Amino acid sequence: MRKDPRGCPTSTASGDAVAQMEQALESMLSYFGDPLAALERAQEADPQWAHVHTVRAGLLLTASEFAAAQQAREELATAARLGTQANDRERAHIAAAQAAADGDWDRACELWEAILVHSPRDIAALLFAHLFDFYRGDALNLKRRPLRVLPRWSPDLPFYGYVLGMAAFGLEEAGHYAEAEDTGRAAVAMNPRDPWAIHAVTHVFEMQGRHRAGAAWLQGRLQDWSVDNGFSFHNWFHAALFHLEEMDTQAALDVYDTYLAGVSDLALQRVDRTAILWRLKLLGLDVASRFDALRQTWNTGAPAAGYYAFNDLHALIACIGAQAEPADDLMDAMTATSSGASSNGRMTRTAGLPLARAFSAYARGRWSEATEGLLRVRDTSHVFGGSHAQRDIVTLTLMDAAVRAGQRELAGHILAERHLAKQHTPLTAFWQGKVARA
Ligand SMILES: [Fe+2]
Repeated sequence: MRKDPRGCPTSTASGDAVAQMEQALESMLSYFGDPLAALERAQEADPQWAHVHTVRAGLLLTASEFAAAQQAREELATAARLGTQANDRERAHIAAAQAAADGDWDRACELWEAILVHSPRDIAALLFAHLFDFYRGDALNLKRRPLRVLPRWSPDLPFYGYVLGMAAFGLEEAGHYAEAEDTGRAAVAMNPRDPWAIHAVTHVFEMQGRHRAGAAWLQGRLQDWSVDNGFSFHNWFHAALFHLEEMDTQAALDVYDTYLAGVSDLALQRVDRTAILWRLKLLGLDVASRFDALRQTWNTGAPAAGYYAFNDLHALIACIGAQAEPADDLMDAMTATSSGASSNGRMTRTAGLPLARAFSAYARGRWSEATEGLLRVRDTSHVFGGSHAQRDIVTLTLMDAAVRAGQRELAGHILAERHLAKQHTPLTAFWQGKVARA
């Protein structure tokens, strides 16, 4: 049996299958190329290798969508059938992905972590756990998990730079901006075409209010993240945020129309589209027709809705932005989920549903109720995942609701948080004016 290039034993005797798996993993880490096609080739090279199906399941699960999770369950059934030939590490992978497919994302991360204890160079276990740390809002492990394995790697191992990229993002979300920037830049120096590491440094610029430097950082590397890359939509989202910090709403709108309006295959893409339009709406732009087109790409009925609270909230915001009928089916799906024991049940109960109710109040012009609801959940809303930059939508909406509710002191109080990093940005000046006029 063969080992992968990082010394992890596999249960296949096919060198070609291992090589194709390597390509699939690189695609998953870099978002360049087609990981599913590479996995297909790995399967052709060794049809009995269960791990191909497990990794495909893991990849599907990271889409954070119901339909993909259903496909993952089928892959895991095949993996389990072939799994009598699998080694211990590969069997542990099946169990971890199965837990995620069953809705227990916390348990899945525990099982991926158990793999890393024995196999710290298992890049698939690290990647899946990293992404689910993000989805679960587990900032501690988003930072610590890559840091725990990093000393057991060396720079000459393939994919080392991607581990640095994950560490950089985790450090950034934990507020360690200097270390995050250094680590992210080191990853980009090793591999300029690492959009996740580019993204981690981009977040540092965002959080430190260095929006012009951030825009230049992305612009200077356009060829490395924006061409034929499956993650480019999200880095475009960040490019639009930098324009918004500058109050260049036309540039942000241009980014939306050119690079985001046409992508809706993934919930992750619809989330970013929704967030940009909502921010533009808060700045006073009429984006209702764009919202209407976007709303139609969201499936607001169960079981697509009710699968992941963070997605559900954005689907609701798209409906509100489109001034559509109240999304009763969506609220029903979230309400049903909120009583469940799954990881998403907890996230919906503690963050998704309370925020959805507050946004619904906002949509109905019940400003005080919206203000109160947003204020109550905002400080703990990390529990339903996303980044600080993404969840800023809650704070911006809270300030807007407070202004509209006539609660000027509260709006100014919340706005003061931005002084540490963004005191002199045009966006902050906009809000200062708005609060002053309230
Ligand atoms: Fe981001």
